[in-house]
Amino acid sequence: MTNADMAAIVAPLFQPFTVKNVTLKNRIVMSPMTRAHSPDGVPGEDVAAYYRRRAEGEVGLIITEGVGTEDLASTDNLRIPVLREGAPLKGWKRVVDEVHAGGAKIFPQLWHQGVLRDARISAHPELLGRRPSGLWGPLGHNSLDPAYVESVAAPTVPMTEAEIAHVIETYARSAGYAKALGFDGIAIHAGHGYLIDSFFWGETNTRTDKWGGDRRGRTRFGVEVVKAIRAAIGPSMPIMYRFSQHKTQDYAARLADTPRALEDILVPLAEAGVDVFDASTRKFELPAFDGSPLNLAGWAKKVTGKPSMMVGSVGLNNTLPEMWKAGSAPVNNIPAVMERFNRGDFDLVAVGRSLLADPGFARRVRLGEPFVPFDKSVTTRLT
Ligand SMILES: Cc1cc2nc3c(=O)[nH]c(=O)nc-3n(C[C@H](O)[C@H](O)[C@H](O)COP(=O)(O)O)c2cc1C
Repeated sequence: MTNADMAAIVAPLFQPFTVKNVTLKNRIVMSPMTRAHSPDGVPGEDVAAYYRRRAEGEVGLIITEGVGTEDLASTDNLRIPVLREGAPLKGWKRVVDEVHAGGAKIFPQLWHQGVLRDARISAHPELLGRRPSGLWGPLGHNSLDPAYVESVAAPTVPMTEAEIAHVIETYARSAGYAKALGFDGIAIHAGHGYLIDSFFWGETNTRTDKWGGDRRGRTRFGVEVVKAIRAAIGPSMPIMYRFSQHKTQDYAARLADTPRALEDILVPLAEAGVDVFDASTRKFELPAFDGSPLNLAGWAKKVTGKPSMMVGSVGLNNTLPEMWKAGSAPVNNIPAVMERFNRGDFDLVAVGRSLLADPGFARRVRLGEPFVPFDKSVTTRLT
């Protein structure tokens, strides 16, 4: 196939997309990726330049790496950026301005590590990781170092009402800062076993009060976070919500076993103010449930009627966990993306690792050019 043939196939991805008061110039989105290059939580010039390169490389939207909220117990590593008053906000202002100058929109991904935060390496070791029921999750179901898991997994104390209220309020405060800085929308990290996800999961939420119990109770925390953020940013700024079946603690865990269960979880979130669902999967080709070719993003759109975004191994031959073991190589799987996109399964296509390897990946897709070789060291370097 010639470059021109490929360019013709991908043309529908380069149509604008409008959600609330934001119009993206195309459907390619940079997936959130933790870089830990922001000393004391402050993104510097190098971080701004890193994001600007992706904007100039023609992505329509950048979702930043996970960013700690105003809750001091939201993140651990001191080099993870935060959205808190003072120097971090000045750093983010530069990032937002550079990305806009480069021609893209940008949402911060608000991240509370919750259950998975390692207090020992954080600026506030006196604050325990916030856990709905004090539980880390089942042992032995992941590829983490068993000695590490043993050192963090001992049960602690369940979150109190006051802590829950504080965490919700600080999400909203950080979202308000983001709006004031000129971010175009808010992305919420509610997947991968972190705080919000841990309220949904029976293995980490055994509460019997209104924050637990049945599926409806376990959905309440996520719903209240979305409502608080919506109240802080007003009606016209978009909110994107990332969820996943898998958890860091258990790759085989599932948020929802059936489309009906997914509907029960996502519809209240949509009603609370979510505008776009970001369905985090490792491989976009995989159907989410038996009996239908729809992937998880396809189902999110179908059960909520809201736009959705797919992700997972775009431009690469294997998944993130496979990459850690064996490395990854470029592959042109864009026609398989287009087959699903043209069917209307989802509205946006998120790209992770391929955009680390090549800041110009989106432009390359538009022009139908071959992809660059992939070296997994890009996951730690800020190139
Ligand atoms: C280095 C790295 C850091 C990541 N950090 C985050 C993160 O902060 N928040 C998040 O939601 N996902 C994170 N992810 C997952 C990506 O957003 C994406 O979903 C995943 O890499 C699959 O997409 P890909 O196959 O195109 O890389 C990270 C992935 C990588 C490679």
